[in-house]
Amino acid sequence: MSVDFAPIGHLVDFNDGKPHRVEVNGQDILIAVVDQEVYAVSDTCTHAEVSLSEGELVDCKIECFLHGAAFDLKSGEPTSPPATTALATYEIALEGEDENPLILVSTKAKEK
Ligand code: FES
Repeated sequence: MSVDFAPIGHLVDFNDGKPHRVEVNGQDILIAVVDQEVYAVSDTCTHAEVSLSEGELVDCKIECFLHGAAFDLKSGEPTSPPATTALATYEIALEGEDENPLILVSTKAKEK
């Protein structure tokens, strides 16, 4: 089955060490750039459904501002409590050869 992608902006718009929220296909998705890699996970904390993009990026993890759960941006898996359920993850594609490519995100979460 082919995957559809939606453009969300250029690398320079996201490459500031902070998490960003975008809406794609009615889903709130957190975009983070860590060491020039772009990650996309669900923006909704699986513990109590607050926006993770209001939290902090620490290494390759996003920390929830409310109760401190952390999630691995690569796998979506929780790495510290109280969350126990993984975040959905999304595929990223880059378009353009230069240092500021267009970022596209899959319109559906990856199958687990
Ligand atoms: S709402 Fe995110 S850890 Fe509780």
